[in-house]
Amino acid sequence: MEAMTTQDTTDTLDVARIRADFPIFDRHGEKPLHFLDSAASSQRPIQVLAMMDEYYETTHANVHRGVYGLAERATEQYEDSRVAVGAFVGAPDPSREIIFTKNATESLNLVSNSFARGLFAPGDKVVLTKMEHHANLVPWLMVKDQMGIEIVYIDHDADGYLDLDGLDAKLDGAKLVSLTLCSNVLGTLNPVKEIAARAHDAGALVVADGAQYVPHIATDVQDLGIDMLAFTGHKMLGPTGIGVLWAKAELLERMPPFLGGGDMILDVRLDGYTPNEIPYKFEAGTPPIAEAIGLGAAVKYLSALGMDKVRAHEIALSEYAFRRFEEEFGRDLVVHGPKNPLDRGGVLSFAYRNVHPHDISQVLDQFGVCVRAGHHCAKPLMRTLGVAATARASLYIYNDESDVEGLIEAIAATRSFFG
Ligand code: ALA
Repeated sequence: MEAMTTQDTTDTLDVARIRADFPIFDRHGEKPLHFLDSAASSQRPIQVLAMMDEYYETTHANVHRGVYGLAERATEQYEDSRVAVGAFVGAPDPSREIIFTKNATESLNLVSNSFARGLFAPGDKVVLTKMEHHANLVPWLMVKDQMGIEIVYIDHDADGYLDLDGLDAKLDGAKLVSLTLCSNVLGTLNPVKEIAARAHDAGALVVADGAQYVPHIATDVQDLGIDMLAFTGHKMLGPTGIGVLWAKAELLERMPPFLGGGDMILDVRLDGYTPNEIPYKFEAGTPPIAEAIGLGAAVKYLSALGMDKVRAHEIALSEYAFRRFEEEFGRDLVVHGPKNPLDRGGVLSFAYRNVHPHDISQVLDQFGVCVRAGHHCAKPLMRTLGVAATARASLYIYNDESDVEGLIEAIAATRSFFG
């Protein structure tokens, strides 16, 4: 089994050693690959790939169904991953509180649909921010259309910080607050702990979108004081097709199921059904077994690196990028969101002169630099910023200063293309 996890014993991340674990950096072709799009989807190390291969080659059978040894071993590995993923975010009761879904979007849809089925009444108030990804906007807008809930929004200032003036009035009478821990466009790290405490004082529950946070920053749901957390595997070295919802057990017990089918029931009659225990009540049908096991390997890999070192690495690299952008481009390049790297994740959405972000991305591609350009599934935020799109470079454990330099060289080249 090739599932050794890199043990990083240095004070800072050893990026060269980490990169050696990621086959894509060897196999991409002649040019060095400057992969700066991990906010959209990260790459994955051989340890994750090998774990999934080994599972398929030696252990696969459906889970929770067979009473033969192979099926029992598959079930054990799947459930072990649930516990490992729960431990990674500080879940107090991981074997009951971690739900495997398809992605963070499905996790948030699970919450909104479940609440619409039994815990919301027409007129109930939900508080969101104006910097949410569509995954944390559209599900609530759907519930608004379906049953007439009220949605109110927390604003943010020009630097991308939430405006907490008037928050208590917005929270007054609210049933639920749902907000991102880290904006996928601005990079802002929101004060979720403070907002959660104030929301609880007002009697509201708190959902956090951790898609851009859990992969990068040590996460403890108990310390954050939240009630639910959505995140996804493919942005944190795991495979696609596996997302996670953590929620407090007593809340999951009260929430009606979202998807119906096999495994989520204790009994089915022709006139009704009895839901299964948590977490199975929320996992209808054959789950993403190999993907869950791959995510288990991913959290093991990240834990072995140390999430504090991951965070420190991204702060240092963001500082480097800000400094070098200033030196090379001055006012020609504007990074959206907070300017202090301590207040942001490693997401650098930028505008360069008046070159269209799609043009920037295409020129960068010729230099082996991968960035995302577009609205980043945050159209209301784009309108607030007064732009149709941004180019976005995002940093992760396998990036270093050479990637920032590659980005700078490629941005500078857009001058000769676009004047
Ligand atoms: N949600 C991902 C992003 O922000 C896809 O790019």
